[in-house]
Amino acid sequence: MTGADDLRGCRAVVTGAGRGIGFAVAERLVRHGARVAVLAQHRESAESAAARLDAWGEVWPLWGDLAQRETCQAVMDQAIERLGGIDVLVNNAGWTGTSAFLQEEQAYWDRVVGVNLWAVIWTSRRALEAMVAGGRGGSIVNVVSDAGRVGMQGEAVYAAAKGGVIALTKSLAQEMARHHIRVNCVSPGPTNTRVLTDNLGQHPELIDRMIRRIPLRRVAEPEDVAEAVVFLAGPRARYITGQVLSVSGGLTMV
Ligand SMILES: NC(=O)c1ccc[n+]([C@@H]2O[C@H](COP(=O)([O-])OP(=O)(O)OC[C@H]3O[C@@H](n4cnc5c(N)ncnc54)[C@H](O)[C@@H]3O)[C@@H](O)[C@H]2O)c1
Repeated sequence: MTGADDLRGCRAVVTGAGRGIGFAVAERLVRHGARVAVLAQHRESAESAAARLDAWGEVWPLWGDLAQRETCQAVMDQAIERLGGIDVLVNNAGWTGTSAFLQEEQAYWDRVVGVNLWAVIWTSRRALEAMVAGGRGGSIVNVVSDAGRVGMQGEAVYAAAKGGVIALTKSLAQEMARHHIRVNCVSPGPTNTRVLTDNLGQHPELIDRMIRRIPLRRVAEPEDVAEAVVFLAGPRARYITGQVLSVSGGLTMV
């Protein structure tokens, strides 16, 4: 760890931190000295993630369905209260299935847009209010998807929601710069987590075909993505805002 990675004094909230990319992000933040609120959908997941991180520093487990506005706002209020403010928000929670657009129902779209777009709007609103009131700047990193940059058949509404977050990021980066608040995106390509295995786990031949299209010839591990998130969240990225960084082994070069 270099001095520039020293996040002591940083108060961070990570959504979807129970497993996958979010857990890897929370782990890095804690190991670099940040105090971290670990937000997960379910209590067991939040508590077990916090228990695994406890040895490294101060961690608070919180849980709830972020796709429900009242729950999302209440969980953010609790996180900011426990941390005594907020310096970093990582909007990582996300979910999609894979299906044909013409076969999808409204309830599915509500769930996809709820967690991938609405939750990011709600958590960002609450975090930005607190960051502005705190007067010491801050940063937000939104975990989007290359589907939101180049499209993805079978994930049309997910791609639309992630594309919406990219536009939200750039707009908030412009609006919040005067408060020394930076807003960026990390855009993973296929990554070895539940989102991938739930959708493609039954079709190893599709995963093999996908890997052949990735110049670096493997899917990402959660840690590959977490490195980019922590970089953009922290002081080494102090002059970077409104950007989208793909971590996709070169699959997309936008
Ligand atoms: N794995 C990939 O191939 C891939 C590719 C591109 C983008 N992403 C994005 O990366 C992010 C992290 O996903 P992951 O790959 O670690 O998968 P994951 O399924 O392991 O993690 C997603 C997390 O989001 C949480 N979550 C989902 N819906 C929620 C809700 N309504 N309320 C609260 N929490 C909720 C889950 O509980 C889980 O902890 C997501 O935003 C996902 O869209 C993943």
